[in-house]
Amino acid sequence: KKRVVSGVQPTGMVHLGNYLGAIKNWVALQDLYETFFFIVDLHAITLPYDAPDLSKATRSTAAIYLACGIDSSKASIFVQSHVRAHVEMMWLLSSSTPIGWLNRMIQFKEKSRKAGDENVGVALLTYPVLMASDILLYQSDLVPVGEDQTQHLELTREIAERVNNLYGGRKWKKLGGRGGSLFKVPEALIPPAGARVMSLTDGLSKMSKSAPSDQSRINLLDPKDVIVNKIKRCKTDSFPSLEFDNPERPECRNLLSIYQIVTGKTKEEVVSECQDMNWGTFKTTLTDALIEHLQPIQARYEEIMSDPGYLDNVLLEGAGKASEIADITLNNVYQAMGFLRG
Ligand code: TYM
Repeated sequence: KKRVVSGVQPTGMVHLGNYLGAIKNWVALQDLYETFFFIVDLHAITLPYDAPDLSKATRSTAAIYLACGIDSSKASIFVQSHVRAHVEMMWLLSSSTPIGWLNRMIQFKEKSRKAGDENVGVALLTYPVLMASDILLYQSDLVPVGEDQTQHLELTREIAERVNNLYGGRKWKKLGGRGGSLFKVPEALIPPAGARVMSLTDGLSKMSKSAPSDQSRINLLDPKDVIVNKIKRCKTDSFPSLEFDNPERPECRNLLSIYQIVTGKTKEEVVSECQDMNWGTFKTTLTDALIEHLQPIQARYEEIMSDPGYLDNVLLEGAGKASEIADITLNNVYQAMGFLRG
């Protein structure tokens, strides 16, 4: 069976971008593949954060996975820091990752520019190496993510190939290993729709947890009246009728796409249903569809959060299954890199 891994950072609220770009697509994969979905708490400390909130956000994100339909009897759901191999592997990989590769990362450049040099910890630079560990430890075939992660995935592939060349194959065999590749080279799985959900207040920037205004995003747990209000106030334009493919209308495209995905309709169906609507009518239609889609998720979320023992168990079991596989890869890499093993 092919392996699939992916994760979300427990920073801020999980929003519609995280859901449509990633989590929603994981649900179908768990029936087809061996899946590992984690909450990347170690990544969440790469920018200034509130320590007392981290564990709460971690549990809440795990509960959201379950509420969205990730099933712990099919997928391994766990917290990244509970599987020690992630950090160990990161150190091993970092010795084979040129600094230049990391300096080129767009997310690093953007985030460090915003934070200012003195506030940027080294971990923000090495962040993608930890992400590569998350993926390579499980010999993953596919990584379902939004479009903003493609560069990190490309880097992961380059690291995998480099380490395979430096330490795998015959060299590994000489050290007592089985030879062959140390890592499978994974591929990104980007959804055809929803890969880049845009801000509600600016159709040219992506919806993000770190944008200062909460008006710019729909959070998965936003109550009904907040959703009504955010859509009522979201940015539109003054063109007549609605359309997907006019480059001068990024907001229109974004809102129609969101409507398309949450209703499960085709693009053509949405066009014929909505093209002659005015903004007022479409906003009401979109709001209703969003609430209808999110309400059951929110109800399940409340249920899951009311039973902490259940959630703890899911995470404990998930970490156990993940560790078994991660440790095999980790031990192989220690061996291939020539470490004395006890
Ligand atoms: P994070 O926490 O920023 O986002 C989680 C997932 O949501 C997707 N996403 C979006 N998709 C569409 N539109 C948007 N506006 C939008 N915003 C975010 C992201 O692409 C991602 O799939 N580095 C990763 C977490 C990570 C990871 C991993 C992912 C760590 N290790 C290993 C996969 C495999 C991140 O910061 O995602």
